[in-house]
Parts: sequence; C-alpha cells; structure tokens
Amino acid sequence: MSADALFTGLEEQFLLSRDKVAGIVDGFLNEFKVGLRTPSKGLATMIPSFVTKMPTGNETGTFLSLDLGGTNLRISAVQLLGNGRVKVLEVKHAITPELRVGTGEAFFDWIADAVEELVTIKARHLFKPEQVTGQEALFLGVCWSFPVDQTAVNRGTILRMGKGITLSETEGRDLADMLHEAFDRKGLNVKVNALLNDTVGTLVAHAYSSPRTRMAIIFATGCNASYPEKVEEITKMDASERSKYPAGTEMLLNTEIDIFGTEEYLPLTKYDKILDDSHNQPKFQLYEKMMSGAYLGELTRLVALDFIEAGILFKGQMPEGFTEAWSFPTKYMSALERDTTVHRQVSLEKILEKYHFAQPPSLEDITILTRICRIISTRSAILCSAAIAALIDQQGLIKKSDGDIIIGMNGSTYEYYPFMEERMHRALRNWFGVEISDRIRLEVAHEGGSVGGALIAMLCN
Ligand code: GLC
Repeated sequence: MSADALFTGLEEQFLLSRDKVAGIVDGFLNEFKVGLRTPSKGLATMIPSFVTKMPTGNETGTFLSLDLGGTNLRISAVQLLGNGRVKVLEVKHAITPELRVGTGEAFFDWIADAVEELVTIKARHLFKPEQVTGQEALFLGVCWSFPVDQTAVNRGTILRMGKGITLSETEGRDLADMLHEAFDRKGLNVKVNALLNDTVGTLVAHAYSSPRTRMAIIFATGCNASYPEKVEEITKMDASERSKYPAGTEMLLNTEIDIFGTEEYLPLTKYDKILDDSHNQPKFQLYEKMMSGAYLGELTRLVALDFIEAGILFKGQMPEGFTEAWSFPTKYMSALERDTTVHRQVSLEKILEKYHFAQPPSLEDITILTRICRIISTRSAILCSAAIAALIDQQGLIKKSDGDIIIGMNGSTYEYYPFMEERMHRALRNWFGVEISDRIRLEVAHEGGSVGGALIAMLCN
C-alpha cells in the first residue's frame, strides 16, 4: 500500500467529522444527566465537591496544601497575598515505582514525611513556632488527582486510582482518615479540612486571579473537568442535604469526564482498542485513553508499527525496541512536532536514540512520523474541545450572557504540546462558529492544585 493510501485510511479513522463530534457532545451531555442523578457506587462521575464558595482574589494568609498527581507529590506552604497574587514554597518528591504498587500505609507514611519536611525545615519560617512544634494544629487542603467519592468537604472515599498506582488496602477507605492515621504515626498535628480533586482545585485557583471562571480543564497525563452546577440539579444528593443550601447556590462538581465514554458514541479506532486491551485497566477511562498525555505516544507507536510493516516507514525495517509496548512517550511526539528546522534529521536521531536502527532514519521518515503525530494530537485537541462544548451547553453559557466564557486550562499536554492551543481554538471555532468561539477564553491556569488546596482549606475554615 502507498503512503498516501495509508494516510487516507488513518485520517478517515482519526479526523473527527462534525457529526462524530456531535455524537460525542451528546454522549457527554447525557452522561452529565445520568451522573447528576445516580448516587455513586464504586466508580463515580459528577462528584459533588461540597465547595459552594469561590474566592474573590482578596483572601490573604498562609495555608498548607498537598497535591498528589500521577508523577509527583507536592506539599506546599501557599501565601495568599491578595489582589489575586500568590507565593508558593514547596517540597516535591517523585512517586517511586515501589511506592506505586506498595501498601497504602507505606504510601501515606511517605506523604507524612514530606509534610514534616516542609513544616519543620523548608517553610519553617512561614509558620508560628507552636505550629512547627505541633502544639497548634495546622490545616491542610488536599488536592487529589484521582477519583474520590466525596461525602463532605473534608471526607471522601478513595476509588480506583489509575495512573499506574495500585495501593493495597486503600480502595474504599476514607482519604482524610488515611492521612490522619499517618500524621498520628509521625506525631504531626495536621488536620485535613478540605479534600478536592485537582480539577476543582484548578477552578478555585484560577478564580482567585480570574473570578468569572466557569470551568477548569485538566489536560495532562490524565484529563478531567470541573464546573459549578446548581445544587437543585445535583439530585444524587439527598433532598434534605440539598435543602440546606439557599436557592440558586452553585456547587463545584468534579465531572470525572475521563471515565466517560462508551463504544456507542466514542469513535474508537483499531489502535484505541489495541491500546485498551494491552492496558492494565481495560475498558476504564476510554475517553481519556484517546486523548491524554499518558496515551498519545503509545497510539503513535501502534500506528507507526503498521507503517513500518507496510514498508513505508524506516524502509520497512523494524527498529530494535520499537515493538515494546509503551516505549514511545508523548514527549517524543512533542519534540517531533516542535522541530520544523533543517536540523530535524539530527534531532530525530537524538529523540529516537533508544531504538536501534539498521539504517539511520531519513528525512522522509521524520516527515511520515511527524504526520502521524499530528493526526493523533489533532484528534486529542478536538476531543478536549468536545468536553468544553458539552460543559458550555450544560451551563447554558452562550445564552446566559454575551460576555466572555472563561476556562482555566491546566496540564502538560495543553501547555507544552506544540500547537495544542491553536488546534483547540480551531476545533472550538469549527464547532461554535467565529462569533461565539471568539468569546471563549482558554486561559492557562498556572496555579493548579496546590493553590486551590490552600484556598479551599481557607474558605472552609
Ligand atoms: C485522572 C483522574 C482524575 C483527575 C485527572 C486529571 O483522570 O481520574 O481524578 O482529575 O486524571 O489529573
């Protein structure tokens, strides 16, 4: 088969037509409805955060926050300086392979050690002496980039974690309890007064500098979205619970849109299916697997395998190591798409140096591989935009006012993948038309979980 024929076939599968996008947006809207009324059992979506206040930007003070993502743990002392300004001093540790698959107890002890390191060493000068010695409690806001079924602002059941973390004796336990037990074992006087998903943290943090923010999107290793929903619509909460809130109150919701999606409305390609089958959690997070940073590289590798086998890429010679699943990270794609200079050939060799080539890749090879990356990352941009389109619709934002629609965007895939922002703008323009899409402001929410955690710790005090 010729390169052109292969690319035509690939584009047919990956380039999402308006009809396909419409199916996805409708699918999401439907899942919002179901999630809002279905009490969580096990895996949950549309999770209430119990956060009903947004910051004004004028809050001040120093607060402690914990931010756990798929790669790093950050414990921070966040100084809110007013006027939407913040200063963060943090202790950051990478999650080691052993911790990822160990016991919950070992994992939470490691977290407690990091809290101790921040409070007693690195940020000691920011706290009162009684807080450093533990005579006076310190309050902690916890930003958790994994699904938690929240039962109160400071209570929540740990659900299946994902992102390569499988802790034993953890699923089903209360997150605040597990943290308090670990703090007790270390003799730390730290109280968890808010738990939040990273996407809720990002929304709150972005609202500190941009108070009219109407949703936050995490587009990183994983993906997710949060937005304020009217409490009366969150019917999965008991009527008695709902009636505690004054009419018209909005509560931030963690959609867990990452786990949305069924084969009925997600146009899965053969590559998505191969990836899913080879994953340690098949059929879980189907949407996320099509578009977030953890998976784009593997999708590219799977497509490239077909191009090699067809004799079109690398002269049909399989580089040594290339058949190894998950060996091609998304950052290789970024590097390929970023480099448009005459030095591309040299840089490709550098990027791919871990594979052993019988003959060095040619300029044509780079062009083909980069085109595959572009097709896969463009689909990812469209899929992320479909979530935004659905959330704009869900909140009726287009009709509500004719002002800007502000979206806090956070995450490595959005921020560092070349042309991602442009591609998302294009996708939104194709969907909404110029007039409406010009009102949509994708603002980088630099302050993610750490600042959000601290703000909620403060707002909930
Ligand atoms: C994953 C997690 C979700 C988190 C998202 C972004 O999808 O399940 O809780 O918000 O990644 O980090």
